[in-house]
Order: sequence, then structure tokens, then C-alpha cells
Amino acid sequence: MTTEILLKGVRPYGEGDPVDVLIADGEIAGIGSPSATDDAEVVEAAGQVLLPGFVDLHTHLREPGREDTETIATGSAAAALGGYTAVFAMANTDPVADNAVVVEHVWRLGQAAGLVDVHPVGAVTVGLGGEKLAELGTMAASAAGVRVFSDDGKCVHDPLLMRRALEYSIALDAVIAQHAEEPRLTVGAQAHEGEQAARLGYAGWPASAEESIVARDCLLARHAGARLHICHVSTAGTADVLAWAKERGTRVSAEVTPHHLLLTDERLSGYDPVNKVNPPLRTGADTERLRRALADGVIDCVATDHAPHAVQDKDCEWAAAKPGMLGLQTALSIVTETMVRSGLLDWRGVARVMSERPAEIAGLPDQGRPIAVGEPANLTLVDPDAEWTVRGAELASIAANTPYEGMRLPGAVTATLLRGRFTVREGKLA
Ligand code: DOR
Repeated sequence: MTTEILLKGVRPYGEGDPVDVLIADGEIAGIGSPSATDDAEVVEAAGQVLLPGFVDLHTHLREPGREDTETIATGSAAAALGGYTAVFAMANTDPVADNAVVVEHVWRLGQAAGLVDVHPVGAVTVGLGGEKLAELGTMAASAAGVRVFSDDGKCVHDPLLMRRALEYSIALDAVIAQHAEEPRLTVGAQAHEGEQAARLGYAGWPASAEESIVARDCLLARHAGARLHICHVSTAGTADVLAWAKERGTRVSAEVTPHHLLLTDERLSGYDPVNKVNPPLRTGADTERLRRALADGVIDCVATDHAPHAVQDKDCEWAAAKPGMLGLQTALSIVTETMVRSGLLDWRGVARVMSERPAEIAGLPDQGRPIAVGEPANLTLVDPDAEWTVRGAELASIAANTPYEGMRLPGAVTATLLRGRFTVREGKLA
């Protein structure tokens, strides 16, 4: 018998009068004024917003291979502190997660860490080489039960290979997540192709390199009748293509990162490689369009693309720096800033884009569930009025490459519960 937990005075989805929520045996046992046993753990949470635990479809945990920048244990800690109860670990590790042995290894390390459900993403092609389909079936049949496949970091650019992957995924009830970047259009690219890059002398990464692949793959997915997911949408034009494809009934979903909702290529003027990311930071008009697309459902969800990098790979000249930035512990705050404070989303909308839709896209039956009696207690408690200052060195990740260093951000995760057990309590690991 586990100890009961009583969350006092919370507002599910930020709606209605405050209620008490009782949690017992991993489930929500009562909502309203439920009576708890004498030894129940009582948490005073007046005014806090209760949401379903967040689900991140796009995380780089770097293990195996780059444990100097992140491990599954430290990445899981960052995820729990960010309000996540499930994350998808991208396949661009060393060795690549392109076979059953590696995905089972990642899965087991996630279970051992025990802070968040770690679901390995399987590579689409062997070694992310883009030439030969990986054994998707054996990864799906493994203990890790892989249902999301991606070569993220690289685009599956061969249209025939992409077509075959999409066709094959149907029998596995899986989704192919595409890093949309036509490589012939981004050779040597260092930044968004536009005014800023031209002024600084960086080779450009044109919006059309993303949009052309998204359009192509929507057509292929529709032809195959398969499910396609677009990783880290970064341009207004991609939102237009997605709207067009969805109107035609294409089975396509898409994610946007917190950094593409907030940051623009204006940041490049400081030459600080902390701002280097792939796809690159775009223009203010793009961030505006991405916010609207997320609000109206053209873009389904938020995913972090949490990408830890070592100091020597970031504190160097721009061209030599690796692309990517930390995201797990700041995602909720950036969404609060860009979507909630702007009035584009209410907290129910935040639940949709950070929990419900990603859980649906990945086919997780016990995540992103309604806050209701009998449902699994995978939950996140948010203080909507809190503000905090980001310090990279204080984040749980081993790497510290946050673009928000020193920024004061709104909204804080105060607690996270995984199957009725605190992983985070009072903003700290439980
Ligand atoms: O900025 C990025 N970093 N984009 C990617 O697609 C890959 C990622 C990484 O693995 O560092």
C-alpha cells in the first residue's frame, strides 16, 4: 500500500474553483473534497495549475556515446524538473540507435533512472547514413517497443527510401519523424538565409530547404496512407504547407520548439554560438506565424529538441560550433511567455500541446490522459505566477548551453508525479 498524496487547492487546467486532488495507488482517486487517510502526504498548492505530465517527442540524451554532455540519468532529471513524465530519446547517439540492442539499452537505462518514461526513437536508416533502411520491425518488436522512428539531425532525403519507410511503418503502427532539411540546399549553411546572415557573412540555410521536404513528404505520406511527423518546424512557409496538407486529410503532425517560438536571428549579431541551432533561428515573422499555427492546431505540439553540447563544442568560433541548445527545464516557461501571456493559449491549450497531442502522436496509452478519477497520476503542478532566473550551471543537465542564461522567465514547475510518485517536489528532485 503506497502512501496517499493530497494536493490541496489546485486548479486542474487552470479552470474553475480550487479543488483537492487525492492520489492513491498510482491513480487519481478523488477530485473535489476527497477524504484522505491520516498518514497521507498533504501538499498545500493553493492557486497552482494542475496539468497532465508533459511528453517530449524530441530529446537528445546523448547516452550511449557522449556521456560527458548528458546521460540518461541526468537528462531524465532535467526532464522531470521541467514537468515531463515521458520523453523520446533521439537516435543520433554513438553507436546509433538503429537496432534492437541499442534501443533496449536506452530503454533499460531510462527505467533504471526511474524519473521519467524514456522511449527510444529508432533510426530510420542504418547509421543515419540515409542509404539503407534500418530494421524497424526488430526495434518495434524489442522490449523498448519502438513506435517513433527518425534520423533526426539528418534528413531522410532519398524520396524512395522515405517512401519505403512510410509504407513499412503502417504495419508497425509507427510514425516516421522527419528532420526536414534538403541537404543539397544547406551545404555549408551556418544561419537562416536572410538579412542577418548576409550582414555577418554566414552561408544561408533557406526556408525552402525545409518547406520543400515537408511538401514532398506530405505527398508521400498521403500516397502511402502512412503517418508522418515533422520535427522542429521553423518557418512560416512550413505552417502554410502543413495547413494545406491537413486540409486534404494527410496524416501529418508537427512540432515546434520553444526556441523557435521565442528567439529570432536578431540574436546572431552577438556571434555567440549558444544561438546556433538546426534548423536555425528564423525571423520575427516566422515566430509570429509559428505561435499562431500552434494555437490553431496546424502545429500539433511543442517538443524541446533538448541538445546538450560540451563547452569546447560551443565556446568556439561560430562555424566550428555544434548546433543545438538545452530545452527541457525551460520549455514550460517559454511556452508561458510566448503562448499564455500573449493570450494565444489558456492552460487547457498548454495541456494539449505539451501533453495530450504528443502522447497521441506517439501512441502512449497512459500519458496525456484527462485529469479524472481512475486515470493514471502522471501529473505536473505549475505555479503560473512564479518567476525565475535561468542559470545554466544550475540546470540538471551536464552541459550548460542554454540560450536563456540570465533571463527572467515566467511560470515554474513545482511538482511532477510519475504514476502517483513524486519525481519533483517543491521544484526540486524528490
Ligand atoms: O540543433 C540541433 N541539434 N538540431 C538537430 O537536428 C540535432 C541536434 C543535436 O543532436 O545536437
